[in-house]
Amino acid sequence: MSSIDKSRTYKLADRVVTRLGYGAMQLAGPGVFGPPKDHAAALAVLREAVASGVNHIDTADFYGPHVTNQIIREALHPYRDDLTIVTKVSALRGKDGSWIPAMSREELTQAVQDNLRNLRLDVLDVVNLRSMFDIHHPAEGSIEAPLTVLADLQRQGLVRHIGLSNVTPAQIAEGRRICDIVCVQNYYNLAHRDDDTLIDELARQGIAYVPFFPLGGFTPLQSNTLSDVAGRLEATPMQVALAWLLKRAPNILLIPGTSSVAHLRENLAAGQLMLSPENLAELDLIVSAPRQRHAS
Ligand SMILES: NC(=O)c1ccc[n+]([C@@H]2O[C@H](COP(=O)([O-])OP(=O)(O)OC[C@H]3O[C@@H](n4cnc5c(N)ncnc54)[C@H](OP(=O)(O)O)[C@@H]3O)[C@@H](O)[C@H]2O)c1
Repeated sequence: MSSIDKSRTYKLADRVVTRLGYGAMQLAGPGVFGPPKDHAAALAVLREAVASGVNHIDTADFYGPHVTNQIIREALHPYRDDLTIVTKVSALRGKDGSWIPAMSREELTQAVQDNLRNLRLDVLDVVNLRSMFDIHHPAEGSIEAPLTVLADLQRQGLVRHIGLSNVTPAQIAEGRRICDIVCVQNYYNLAHRDDDTLIDELARQGIAYVPFFPLGGFTPLQSNTLSDVAGRLEATPMQVALAWLLKRAPNILLIPGTSSVAHLRENLAAGQLMLSPENLAELDLIVSAPRQRHAS
């Protein structure tokens, strides 16, 4: 079993989390719906992640639905004190697996209760409000009403910290006028860099940025440049993609998803990979975004 570098941590509100975390979405069945093909393998991935030092797990009760949280509970409860589980609310699943916006007071309250029950927790560490004005992309619209509900649940002691997901800079600014926002979780990776400016701004404000689809999600990253750099470093393209994100900004926290112990080990080993300035310059050419400065 590999151990991750525990010196690479980030202070997420009052929690200290390893910058290399784990995203649990892949533990549900195909299409993030129903049970996994291999239940024992799903348990093994979670247990190996935590045994390797990962102390940041991302989930949602609408993965499955309920399935992923129940697997986390079965694999890891009672939880280690240093484990931070981040969940998200604002969606329900149709009988056909569709994703249905669920941002009313009743739906958000129910979602928090569902997370508490299925994870067997008294309080949720971090809850992200996932904006659903457009299911796939950030889209403008006021988040005041749903975020106020979440802030009320925080005051009731059911939620420790609040984050936002699938949001625009305007929504983050609106959210920060309502309550403390500790993290933002948006779509970002080596080949999809719409949030370049936002990441730097959040870094200055001390807010974590947690890219979802860090490996490309349902369409894993593929690029000759990425493969070339990986080949020269005797690493895999996925490892290089993760190492690039770690280097991109100090407030980036990784939650790569996998249903495989072998892939998990590979992904965690990315923390040891060193990218040179030449590597970074080459990788920056994968998108035509303006050249960014990299954190050390
Ligand atoms: N806030 C949101 O709206 C939102 C949306 C999507 C996801 N998320 C969160 O973000 C996390 C990460 O996203 P994701 O899991 O969808 O996408 P991802 O991490 O970009 O990629 C996962 C895909 O890559 C494969 N993979 C993982 N490691 C690999 C490796 N070393 N080599 C080859 N293939 C590898 C996985 O397949 P295998 O299972 O075969 O390894 C899976 O198909 C999720 O788990 C979830 O917690 C949030």
